[in-house]
Amino acid sequence: MTKSLHDSVFVRACRGLSVPHAPVWFMRQAGRSLPEYRKIREGVGMLESCRRPDLVTEITLQPVRRHGVDAAILFSDIVVPLAAAGVDLDIVAGTGPVVAAPIRTAADVAGLGPLEPGAVGYVDEAVRMLLPELGEIPLIGFAGAPFTLASYLIEGGPSRTYLKTKAMMYGDPDLWNTLCSRLADITLAFLRVQVNAGVSAIQLFDSWAGALSEADYRRFVLPHSARVMGGLADAGVPRIHFGVGTGVLLEAMGEAGADVVGVDWRTPLDRATKIIGPDRAVQGNLDPAILFAPWEVVEREARRVVAEGRTAPGHVFNLGHGVLPETDPEVLTRLVDVVHNC
Ligand code: CP3
Repeated sequence: MTKSLHDSVFVRACRGLSVPHAPVWFMRQAGRSLPEYRKIREGVGMLESCRRPDLVTEITLQPVRRHGVDAAILFSDIVVPLAAAGVDLDIVAGTGPVVAAPIRTAADVAGLGPLEPGAVGYVDEAVRMLLPELGEIPLIGFAGAPFTLASYLIEGGPSRTYLKTKAMMYGDPDLWNTLCSRLADITLAFLRVQVNAGVSAIQLFDSWAGALSEADYRRFVLPHSARVMGGLADAGVPRIHFGVGTGVLLEAMGEAGADVVGVDWRTPLDRATKIIGPDRAVQGNLDPAILFAPWEVVEREARRVVAEGRTAPGHVFNLGHGVLPETDPEVLTRLVDVVHNC
């Protein structure tokens, strides 16, 4: 990372250093809320677009140009490394990842992975194409955490209850741990490719970990996520750890090795900071649905989030989860201005 990226508002806030304003970016800032995204994706499948460095570069840059956000996030998906490791899956519009042959038995687990870095050479290439285009704007790399990836592999697709996932976790902890440790290897390999190519930070998405109690999270999930985070401890880039509905898990998710803990809209950032402790920054946490309210409400709530974030050692402004596809992109642009001027 160059000195100017080290000194960027985003990286400094992740490190808890002084900043002129809270940096802001949005989860899913590249995506269907943008007409230019919908246009460039016409007739191109989601996975295919992730494998084309020219498309990845253009789509990653779109929200940076339009909104003036303080960080870019690589356009990809959490299931990209699974597909590259040989899992037969697709990303179905309006549904999400769908796995052709769900992983349920010891033989299924034995057939998974590893991820050879060369199998995601297009990610390395896309990051290297992006860096000169981005200049002083940091690029965030990301991956899915073992629990969230396991949930897609075991369920075969999105789930409300995580029944089959929990059945394996509670019913066959050895198999569960074998699966999650293979997933941790894949995730770590995928993140290393991105770090070696030059990303300025990484975010580990454990989007669905909020389905668990703290005790079960600590027992069945934290050790695997901690291995991923620990494997990047000397990489020199801030590590962000995010999940949805994780109010009771925030402390443990920090302990897994995060420099920044992502918080959804359910927990105010001042309370989250008390739970997480003084050694880590926070990221979040405006409810993405608030962007559909009248502008005065959006502005008031954004100011509240910034004020609550000031109680943390560092604050990266974000939504509490991804931008909803129906969001008016002009509201996002105005929101960036409000945060920059707070
Ligand atoms: O701008 C960004 O945030 C970077 C791009 C990004 C995508 N997926 C692109 C995408 C990121 C960071 C992800 C991560 C991801 N993918 C997560 C973790 C983040 C979260 O939302 O909690 C998860 C759980 C997935 C799995 C997944 N992939 C889902 C749930 C979906 C949405 C299904 C739908 O159509 O509503 C996808 C598909 C996907 N990934 C889209 C995008 C832009 C939409 C597909 C499209 O545009 O055709």
